[in-house]
Amino acid sequence: MNTPRLTVIGTGYLGATHAICMAVLGFEVLGVDVDQAKIDRLASGEVPFFEPGLPELLAKALESGRLRFTTSFEEAAAFGDVHFICVGTPQKQGSHAADMTYVDASVAALAKHLTRKALVVGKSTVPVGTAARLTAMVKELAPAGDEIELAWNPEFLREGFAVEDTMRPDRLVFGVASAWAEERLRAAFEPVLAQDVPVKVTDLATAELVKVAANSFLATKISYINAMAEVCEATGADVSDLAEALAFDTRIGGRFLRPGLGFGGGCLPKDIRAFMARAEELGVGQAVGFLREIDGINQRRRARTVDLVTELAGGDVRGKKIAALGAAFKPNSDDIRDAPALDVASTLHRLGAEVTVFDPAAMENAKRVHPELTYGENALDAAAGADVVVLLTEWTEFREIDPAAMAAVVGTAAIVDGRHALEPAEWRAAGWEYRALGRP
Ligand code: UDX
Repeated sequence: MNTPRLTVIGTGYLGATHAICMAVLGFEVLGVDVDQAKIDRLASGEVPFFEPGLPELLAKALESGRLRFTTSFEEAAAFGDVHFICVGTPQKQGSHAADMTYVDASVAALAKHLTRKALVVGKSTVPVGTAARLTAMVKELAPAGDEIELAWNPEFLREGFAVEDTMRPDRLVFGVASAWAEERLRAAFEPVLAQDVPVKVTDLATAELVKVAANSFLATKISYINAMAEVCEATGADVSDLAEALAFDTRIGGRFLRPGLGFGGGCLPKDIRAFMARAEELGVGQAVGFLREIDGINQRRRARTVDLVTELAGGDVRGKKIAALGAAFKPNSDDIRDAPALDVASTLHRLGAEVTVFDPAAMENAKRVHPELTYGENALDAAAGADVVVLLTEWTEFREIDPAAMAAVVGTAAIVDGRHALEPAEWRAAGWEYRALGRP
């Protein structure tokens, strides 16, 4: 069969990356969004978020003539053979459940214009059962009716590695209801599959579940080691050594076993909560009840970091100068959604500290959401006169700070390493009082 023309509906983090990479791989792609400003920026060659390698690929894709952008669903329906749904599913206000407004609205807006056989492919992270519900909705709304099929192809991309994860993912999952849908998906990923990327073909519900199961597992692994950190703190043991020793067991492995301030971002926290909410609805809430503990352990790391800073500040942070290194939820990202770093910084501010933040990429985003905090020009500037320095996001440039140079600018040489990113012996040798979660 012919090479499909692709549309990508929702040009946020996931959609923009998918659209750009697919065009680079040789497909004709139309990116669609309701946000005219976002579409204008992309069409002019500007990636609206921080992602290494993506601006260069956007330029290349635009130059090839294979990538265009629009706000018209009518145009998208006329153009595309395979339509990827990439809109967000944030946490609902006042509930743990996922907000399905954007998915439902975009699928409905597209369906109304589908007049010939086409495949609609969900990539967004959704509660299991969504694909079945959308299938019925699409068939009812689309003029082409039963000719329209739905498939699910969950996305596993990591921020900071989005290009790599899209071009050469560790696996593809195709949730399909027919052989035709599978064939269309294989055609839509032909250059990716040609690199021997494994593909798991399954039903719609399983494909939806793979994503939340994977993220729950990763969150569990992080909170597991952070729970061990709590035990270490009560006994004088060292969680860093413990994690390293565990990692030698290849059944356990060392990845996502880094203790510290815990997970944040636009995915892990909201995905485990939405999973709990959906499991409750299905009457199997008990099966994933442990995720409540995982979430709780993760939140306690933030509180414990504030406690450590308070201890180093002499028991009270009121009026104390605190330097907060990091704002993004992880390094190599400007994303501050549910960022543990900003959570700690703003809590310290609420407790009466004078907090100065520096982050290599997330300054603009942080200033917008937390105008009450003070911002430095660089790490040393933020640390000037500080009573306590707290490292909250493990950027390489923070790992490379010279402890002596920083000691020369602070008021008191006291540091909390919230990410186990620094070498304690080096910092202590330079005269610092060094503290980290789960370490003596
Ligand atoms: C995650 C999943 O990895 C990805 O597959 C999914 O599609 C989207 O969610 P991302 O949100 O980019 O990707 O972040 P990730 O790199 O997984 O990190 C999540 C959080 O865990 C970060 O806050 C990070 O600092 C923290 N983390 C990670 C730890 O605290 N310890 C670790 O050992 C690893």
